[in-house]
Amino acid sequence: MTERCTPDLCGQRARSASQGSITVERVALVLPRLPAEFNAMTVAVVSDIHAGSRNSGRASVAEVVERTNALGADLIVVLGDVVHSAANANSYLPVLSGLEANEGVYACLGNHEHGFVWYSRYLGASRAPSVDRWRALYAEAGIQLLVNEAKPLPRGRSRIWLLGVDDAYSGNDDLAAALAQARASEFCLALTHSPDLVDDPQVREVDLVLAGHTHGGQICFPLMGPLFAPCRQFRRRAAGLLRANGTTMYVTRGSGEALPVRINCPREISLVSLMCVQGPPLARDRERFRT
Ligand SMILES: [Fe+2]
Repeated sequence: MTERCTPDLCGQRARSASQGSITVERVALVLPRLPAEFNAMTVAVVSDIHAGSRNSGRASVAEVVERTNALGADLIVVLGDVVHSAANANSYLPVLSGLEANEGVYACLGNHEHGFVWYSRYLGASRAPSVDRWRALYAEAGIQLLVNEAKPLPRGRSRIWLLGVDDAYSGNDDLAAALAQARASEFCLALTHSPDLVDDPQVREVDLVLAGHTHGGQICFPLMGPLFAPCRQFRRRAAGLLRANGTTMYVTRGSGEALPVRINCPREISLVSLMCVQGPPLARDRERFRT
């Protein structure tokens, strides 16, 4: 794997504010190709709610919606595994209709939306709605689902491209198809579920990848990090910011879990600020406080 480290492309973990059981992680990224019109654009990242699992009922999903809206982001992205069981789609997708952002709410699919859980590689996927059914459910919730496709996001006379790449863990990703719909010379922000998308050689054409799926590993130890996470190079990719294969990626720990245990790995909603110029640090690294 090759690494590109551009001097003016830097990440600042600006502030972490723990709100009850959910931590808000604030990250500011300087991205060289970002048009000036998009400087300081904020993106709220929600992933892995796993609605319908033991600790994620309707009230928990509503709490995620409320706390995400409270961030006042310009854009909200939902990175998959919204439901724990695909059979729960009709019950929980309507709760997400409460998400509000001036420049829209976008989503990509996760492995659980495809009925693909941890043992599916051995026993096969369970029944799940078709992609067309998911499109309809997300549309009813006011969310634009992107499945291996791209959509321009305009501001003034400029624009960036949002790429929604389907889930790599279940083998449904097609980054090339999404890139084919975008203008190669323009800024591309890819939404995807598994961080393993970063192994796709074409990912170097993407300026920033936002991913989830790992839950941060859920059980983490000081100095050692996570015991396990369902991705390649999990100690490096389980959570946070990294550069790989010519792109930058931020991996959220997500705001739910499959197994009801988290140690040194709190639930997360992320607020990513896109910057085209280097500004002063927003706050001390990983400042944490209770509300
Ligand atoms: Fe997942």
